[in-house]
Amino acid sequence: MRTSASNPFTLGVASGYPKDDSVVLWTRLAPVPLSGGGMGTAGDVEIPLEIATDSSFTNVVQSTRAVAEARYAHSVHHVVTGLRPNTHYWYRFSYGGYSAMGRALTAGNRDDVRFAFVNCQNLQEGFYPVYRDIAEDGSLDLVVHLGDYIYDSAPAPGGPRQHRTKAPVDLASFRNRHADYKMDRDLQAAHAAHPWIVSWDDHEVENDYAGNTSWYNQAAFARRRAGSYQAYYEHMPLPPDFLQPRPFDGVTLFGKVSYGDLLQFLILDVRQYRTLQPCGDRLTDCPERYDTKNDILGPEQEEWLKSNLSAESPRWNVIANSIFMLEYDHNPGYYVDGWDGYIHSRKRLFEHLYNNRVPNPVVISGDIHAGWVVDLKYHPDFPLEAFKRNDAVTIATELIGTSVTSTLSSGWVSTYRRALPKNSHVKYFDERSGGYTRCIVTPDNFRAEYKLAQNVADRLSPVKTVATFDVAAEGNPDLRKGATMIETLTDVKLVEPEPDYRVVGWRWAEGYGAGKEGYWLLPRQLKLSDGSYIEFEQLKRG
Ligand SMILES: [Fe+2]
Repeated sequence: MRTSASNPFTLGVASGYPKDDSVVLWTRLAPVPLSGGGMGTAGDVEIPLEIATDSSFTNVVQSTRAVAEARYAHSVHHVVTGLRPNTHYWYRFSYGGYSAMGRALTAGNRDDVRFAFVNCQNLQEGFYPVYRDIAEDGSLDLVVHLGDYIYDSAPAPGGPRQHRTKAPVDLASFRNRHADYKMDRDLQAAHAAHPWIVSWDDHEVENDYAGNTSWYNQAAFARRRAGSYQAYYEHMPLPPDFLQPRPFDGVTLFGKVSYGDLLQFLILDVRQYRTLQPCGDRLTDCPERYDTKNDILGPEQEEWLKSNLSAESPRWNVIANSIFMLEYDHNPGYYVDGWDGYIHSRKRLFEHLYNNRVPNPVVISGDIHAGWVVDLKYHPDFPLEAFKRNDAVTIATELIGTSVTSTLSSGWVSTYRRALPKNSHVKYFDERSGGYTRCIVTPDNFRAEYKLAQNVADRLSPVKTVATFDVAAEGNPDLRKGATMIETLTDVKLVEPEPDYRVVGWRWAEGYGAGKEGYWLLPRQLKLSDGSYIEFEQLKRG
């Protein structure tokens, strides 16, 4: 047992990448999280890890030791194996005192999957009522993060809160920046409550970077990218496979998470392998946009993706992608940082989906800080302008989730709004930021609930559903109707009466080991699907 008196579990715990019989468990020892972690010259540390089938740890099924690796900032990426499918497990680490308790859920064949997807969480633009809402939703099976988990910007005054660490440029400063985000209690609660899978976008590294190329400072970029990739690994519940083939010059973020015959998630990496954006990365159209050399996935990832998409694929095929896939005529111009800059990659994917009659593809995306629902269009004879044709088929539905906090400028709002009449394949556009999307998938239907926080400047803000869409399962790509709006509350004001009480904080309960301190983060009255509760403290405001 350690003798130091400070809490090493300042960044919480997390689980990720569930399989039928395993899950990745994460934590990091960081008693001084904002300046290097505080573990000094300590080598690898073995810490006890308990896994139980109940929240009071009366039925511990595995009691083992996990390794906090010194070279990875004393982070733990422990793959627990030998688990049962579709089963909740509670876990906790100890090092002097206990860590927060987390709850993981294995994958497996089942009748329904419920997940939330999120993206773009600039903390300088708000608090995380979204994550409080997700943490409290005991019915969720999984959280999918689609990138911009951190922002690489300098501390700036004027927002609801401010980065406490300087703009990152290398491994040490990216570690501090990740810690700055991970210290948020609502984010920690959402990680503790559900397993996550993650993709990244540009701001984990630098705005609009493409592969090994920076639009800002090429001389410093190799160091910046390697440092940011390493810090990302050190702070996410990623499997150690991420380290292949060359940490951190080349890593493997793309991958698959499966729920039997019902659904698979195919997680894409649209940053590491892409060629440079055409047309100078400007909102425009130019001959270079039509060049077949532009490639957003890279050959290896594209082959992998196609090999996982066939007529025998599960009922639903969710392509988790950080940046919007739709064609959007900005009247004039195209957004070449998205798939509109890589139109031949998109054409090859849609052709593959069509020719192989891949069942029910649904693309989930982030990046643009607004909520959209879109019919992705394919036409065998006019693949590059299918969205303009009445006789094109709806090859897939794209659900673009709004940001957790990051805002959309008024200039972009008016650009998008003005261009909507030129883009009849867009079924829904809501420019409001500060929300997430909750999905309920059954064999016959894919439901998407678009949710918004009333005000992300208020940590305690309520979160409510403002629009609901259904996508009916249809195996034949010639017959797909895309999404249907079930309900919309877009005209209803989000402001609602103050409830009697709200959750205003998470109680750090007393653990044992080193005197009075202990590090449980105990959520109270989080109702679980088996009828039991995780407990946390609910306090009245004021
Ligand atoms: Fe973003």
